[in-house]
Amino acid sequence: MERAYLSSWFVILIVLAVSFTACQKDEHFAGEPGVREAVPEPTPISLEIPVGFPSHIVASNNPLTLEGVELGRKLFHDPILSKNNQQSCASCHDQKIAFTDDARFSIGVEGKPGTRNSMALMNLAWRRNFFWDGRANSLEEQAFDPITDPLEMNTTWPEVEQKLNDHPEYPELFRLAFGVDEIDSNVVVKAIAQFERTLISGNSKFDKHLQGQNVFNDLEREGFELFVSEEGDCFHCHNGVFMSDNTFRNNGLQFPIEDEGLGAVTGRDRDKGKFIVPTLRNVEFTAPYMHDGRFETLREVVDFYSDNVNQNSPNVDPVMLKVNRPGGSLGLTDRQKDALVAFMKTLSDEEFLNDPRFSNPH
Ligand code: HEC
Ligand code: HEC
Repeated sequence: MERAYLSSWFVILIVLAVSFTACQKDEHFAGEPGVREAVPEPTPISLEIPVGFPSHIVASNNPLTLEGVELGRKLFHDPILSKNNQQSCASCHDQKIAFTDDARFSIGVEGKPGTRNSMALMNLAWRRNFFWDGRANSLEEQAFDPITDPLEMNTTWPEVEQKLNDHPEYPELFRLAFGVDEIDSNVVVKAIAQFERTLISGNSKFDKHLQGQNVFNDLEREGFELFVSEEGDCFHCHNGVFMSDNTFRNNGLQFPIEDEGLGAVTGRDRDKGKFIVPTLRNVEFTAPYMHDGRFETLREVVDFYSDNVNQNSPNVDPVMLKVNRPGGSLGLTDRQKDALVAFMKTLSDEEFLNDPRFSNPH
């Protein structure tokens, strides 16, 4: 019901936006020499917040508008942002698998792999640090990166700006969304960030459980109890509605440390080996796992936490030491491992993966 109501609201907004644009055109002096056609104000929108979610961070320098979000969606799916017009953001962030890709290391336009696993994109409007190592502090800042990264889209901003300014549709779309006559990198990243903030996943079996519905089967319930108890001890880091406390930790993956993660960003020894605690929403679809994509299945992840944590990894989180029993093992049984995997699959949100508002509009 609520969904249906919200989508009709969305349609009404579009209708309003279209008629508003039409009125504005009439009132001004289109075609008269020397008189610039005034740009109508873009239509403000707000995010649909799922039940139980806290309020999100508001990007006051980039308010959400219908025109901005739609433009961002188009850009996100458009290979025009890459050097050879072959790769879009969506090439490595595919909606069907929660906006990640299935490669261990994503392959860029030059056919060369990067050094980290692509990240699933959802519920980003609640986050302050982006990338595995947190090196970007806003979505706008983040979006500058892939376009010029030699191992990703490998182009230059002047090139992208030129292509967009010469395009038959983009100049008008940017004018309507941001009131600009000339497209530059700042408005490109703003539009993309607006679209990314609308990628919200909050309609899984787990959410229904949180709302008090009796949806878990025995194995899922057992997995949930393990997850939130000292026995499995996952909830110390993967907690709250986002299944992450958004901190940086070393979960004992690496020994020796090959990728310093946060440590390379801050330059501090005590941060070496720390990575952001990733959300586990839709984790069923986001394999392979970890910053280096070393695990192919959720079962391998659980085997790692149960039996193979590197307790001598520098800066390993104290939680990882405490949970491990003598002998360096959580000592989970097969049944317990199955239960944890079954629970993690209750975080899947099919509606998110199939939401037509996020799909490729081209
Ligand atoms: C070649 C594959 C590739 C392309 C193309 C690509 N990305 Fe990514 N993306 C990645 C990888 C890999 C990471 C993690 C990199 C890291 O942590 O160093 C990432 C991380 C991100 C993050 C951080 C998510 C988080 O939870 O912190 C965002 C947001 C993102 N990408 C958006 C985009 C946008 C927008 C574009 C297009 C402008 C894009 N990506 C293009 C592979 C790609
Ligand atoms: C000390 C904090 C901490 C605890 C406890 C913890 N995790 Fe993690 N988890 C992390 C961090 C940090 C990462 C990312 C590490 C990396 O990539 O280097 C991660 C990654 C993962 C991933 C991979 C997600 C992805 O997108 O690649 C899964 C799945 C996961 N954890 C499940 C669990 C389960 C199940 C438990 C309990 C048995 C658990 N975690 C306990 C911090 C923790």
